[in-house]
Amino acid sequence: MKSRDADTPNSKRPKRQNRLISVCRVEDLPPGRGATVELAGGEEIAIFNVNGEFFAIENFCPHRGAPLADGDICGHEVECSRHGWRFSLRTGACLSHTGSNIEAYEVIIKDGELKVKI
Ligand code: FES
Repeated sequence: MKSRDADTPNSKRPKRQNRLISVCRVEDLPPGRGATVELAGGEEIAIFNVNGEFFAIENFCPHRGAPLADGDICGHEVECSRHGWRFSLRTGACLSHTGSNIEAYEVIIKDGELKVKI
């Protein structure tokens, strides 16, 4: 793991509000795919389907700000499409650079609806 060489702030990070938001139907996000969810206030999260397990993280790479929803899923990690930094989908931990962790959000499925707790 390398030391951090950049730290771009995420102006689209949702504020924690301890509430569930509906993002899509389960069938709308096929296995192996990620998608950007834009919230009412312009904030963004990235959601992923890893073989039927769903994850939600910030949609923002702290290196240079690329949307992580566009990254490649590698097991339970996502690799940023721009320069390859990797993040745990389970925890938001940055696996490439110390101190560049991002937020991970709880995902709940209810009646076929994917909900994210922000
Ligand atoms: S923007 Fe450089 S690794 Fe993500």
